[in-house]
Amino acid sequence: MKLIAPSVLSADFSKLGQEIKNVEKAGADWIHLDIMDGHFVPNITFGPEIVKTSKKSTDLCLDVHLMIENPDQYINQFIDAGADCISVHFEAVTHLSRTIQLIKQKDVKAGVALNPATPVNILEWVLEDLDFVVIMSVNPGFGGQSFIPNTIEKIKTLKTMIAQKNLKTLIEIDGGVNEKTIQKISEAGVDIFVAGSAIFKSNNYKETITKLKNKW
Ligand code: DX5
Ligand code: ZN
Repeated sequence: MKLIAPSVLSADFSKLGQEIKNVEKAGADWIHLDIMDGHFVPNITFGPEIVKTSKKSTDLCLDVHLMIENPDQYINQFIDAGADCISVHFEAVTHLSRTIQLIKQKDVKAGVALNPATPVNILEWVLEDLDFVVIMSVNPGFGGQSFIPNTIEKIKTLKTMIAQKNLKTLIEIDGGVNEKTIQKISEAGVDIFVAGSAIFKSNNYKETITKLKNKW
């Protein structure tokens, strides 16, 4: 099953709760929340309080993408705020296996995100512990960037790794997903599609989500 996860990074923050309700009504499957600390990435967004507020607006799975240094220090706060899925960046963590266990201890789904320059084979010895892998198809930090084309090859390599190990790990793609790119991304084997600007900068969320889903 394929899922669409609108990233609220491109939403109107002055009415975040309503924006979340609107994309839910328009066919969103998950809600993607981008946490940025101004250190790991050159941008700052929000923390657990906004996750808690978002939880009040929807029953959909809250997919929390931590683009922060030292995520171990904050994981419990995000879980208490209502995160259903949490991904941490491979590049931001020293003891990855420990961090994954920390997320899973409370029955939250665990993911690892990889920057465009990070190869997928570094996941070899943790893949079986992961519910999902986030392949970044832009350099993290901002919405509205262009999809990096060689990501397609990377998705295929990861898909093969997952199949060879007989695992059910899902592949999430994040960055530059739109009506022009989604078909190729889908054919490469992606399960979860994050889309920020393509949805929130459009005039009609339902029409856009339907178009995206018709192309995968
Ligand atoms: C980028 C974020 C993305 C971002 C995607 O660092 O992780 O989730 O919102 O935005 P678009 O879909 O506009 O590329
Ligand atoms: Zn993200």
